[in-house]
Amino acid sequence: MYLIPALMFLSLLLIYIIKNRLAIFWPSTGRMVDAIEELADLKGRETVYDLGSGDGRVLVRLAKNAKKATGIEHNPILNAIARKRIGGLKNVSVTQGDIFEKDLKDADVIVAYLSRFLTHKLEKKIIKECRNGTKIILVGYRFNGMKPLKERRVFLMRIRLYKV
Ligand SMILES: C[S@@+](CC[C@H](N)C(=O)[O-])C[C@H]1O[C@@H](n2cnc3c(N)ncnc32)[C@H](O)[C@@H]1O
Repeated sequence: MYLIPALMFLSLLLIYIIKNRLAIFWPSTGRMVDAIEELADLKGRETVYDLGSGDGRVLVRLAKNAKKATGIEHNPILNAIARKRIGGLKNVSVTQGDIFEKDLKDADVIVAYLSRFLTHKLEKKIIKECRNGTKIILVGYRFNGMKPLKERRVFLMRIRLYKV
């Protein structure tokens, strides 16, 4: 009698733990991409990174108004999908690999939709590597030691803009 509710509870708990720790592919919706684009406020001369670029939907949107847009994604299938989406666009690329191995010192704008654990790890890397004025847009999770300058809410999701 209690088996189904117990299984449902355990499944939800598992999803919660995996999402917090691992950053599985959970793509941004169209309205989230709109909010990210608004917060990025690109002028056509910026170098942009999407850390964990998934199927490239955020990357391709931001590339329209950026000098250069690079996605870093460790899943080869998602990278293949992103490359199809990128098509012939010259200023966009995706690199297969771990976001923590990429040097971010030339970044003007960084977008990251990861997990709580990876967002905290990223905060330390950004403080160490990024120059003053770099904009960071975080989807879902927040930095511990920095205050967001702006925040947008899309349904239950919060998207925050930080500046180094
Ligand atoms: C929540 S999805 C976001 C996808 C995309 N940025 C979007 O907004 O639609 C997180 C992505 O980060 C990728 N990812 C997680 N950890 C990573 C790591 N250490 N290095 C590279 N990619 C990673 C996952 O494979 C997944 O595609």
